[in-house]
Amino acid sequence: MKENNEPYRQDVAFIDRNKELVELRSFVDKRPSEILFIHGPKSSGKTTLLYKFLEQIQEEQRLDVKFLNLRKTFTNVFEDFLKTFFLVETHGEKKESLTSNINIGFFKIDASVEKKILEKRADPFKVMEAEFLDLTRRGIKPVLIIDELQALDKIYLDNDKERQLITSLFNFFVAMTKESHLAHIIIASSDGYFLNTVYNDSKLKKCSEFFKVDYLAKEDVMEWLLNLEKYSKIKDYTLIDTDAEKIWDTVGGSMWEIQNMLSHLFEHPIDEVLAGYKQKMAGMITYYVVQKERERREKILRRFIDNDYLEIKDTNIEDVELLRDMVANNILYFDPTLAIYYPQGKSYRWGIKLYFESIA
Ligand SMILES: Nc1ncnc2c1ncn2[C@@H]1O[C@H](COP(=O)(O)OP(=O)(O)O)[C@@H](O)[C@H]1O
Ligand SMILES: [Mg+2]
Repeated sequence: MKENNEPYRQDVAFIDRNKELVELRSFVDKRPSEILFIHGPKSSGKTTLLYKFLEQIQEEQRLDVKFLNLRKTFTNVFEDFLKTFFLVETHGEKKESLTSNINIGFFKIDASVEKKILEKRADPFKVMEAEFLDLTRRGIKPVLIIDELQALDKIYLDNDKERQLITSLFNFFVAMTKESHLAHIIIASSDGYFLNTVYNDSKLKKCSEFFKVDYLAKEDVMEWLLNLEKYSKIKDYTLIDTDAEKIWDTVGGSMWEIQNMLSHLFEHPIDEVLAGYKQKMAGMITYYVVQKERERREKILRRFIDNDYLEIKDTNIEDVELLRDMVANNILYFDPTLAIYYPQGKSYRWGIKLYFESIA
């Protein structure tokens, strides 16, 4: 019998992100002077890239990296923020943080400081600053990476709706970078609209840099699809040029969707898989559109049949909320640097196109 040591017939691919890794590297190699915002559509590989980067820099003695992924950890209270950012250490024992499985590095405090913070007798930002200062004094550069920062959006200080945590946090980040050059701050979010708001509201214009992590370029997708064994450990089938083109045409450079298409090709012919997927996307658009405000939603989405993108200056003020909703639902992406809206990816364009064909 033929021996098979491979536990899976398809593996998770990782297509080269050298350019992006070099960019991140050069960011931490200079003295901190601005916040780095990493943006890009849903599943464009931001988190994966940041974990790769973390792998590269984690072992370096001269860097102290804290990586906080807020995707799953927040509800909407201030205490959640404290639990994620601060690790309480009691004498002798090390208290497990609730979020330690996805978060690396915390601001370590003891129980008395935690008590003071909770009773508002100590300022959490001062505690963070003290740690940055201490590290810097010891010749170690602090790097704080926060993924999915928009999770903090609904948190208020002292339950006062006028005092958003995020505003204080940004003022703190500006102080740590532009003003005192103490720490590297890297922030990632799929919600470009959120980033844009923060950017405008907190007067961050001159103290931040935006870096887009996008879906793969066509040449990378072709390289992947024409070498499935190399990148995905798939031995059961190969693709020819025209197949690869068809996949590109359906999902573009969206890695997660490419992986998904590949997993269906073990059992089904390519045309069937791709047609079925486009139908599924049309179904998703239908579901979104018919939920409420159908006509208004259709009116906006219809514009993407003939336009690649929609410039913010060409939108109506009364549509702002609706566009924001589409961004929050990951139907549209808002690019905060160009101030344009466009469908999350090629498959969403197909969904929109087929939806309007179906009601025509
Ligand atoms: N460079 C890459 N090559 C191939 N697949 C990738 C790459 N980066 C990410 N992926 C895949 O894409 C999906 C989404 O990645 P993720 O990093 O979670 O995106 P984001 O954080 O931007 O939403 C994951 O399934 C991941 O395995
Ligand atoms: Mg992510």
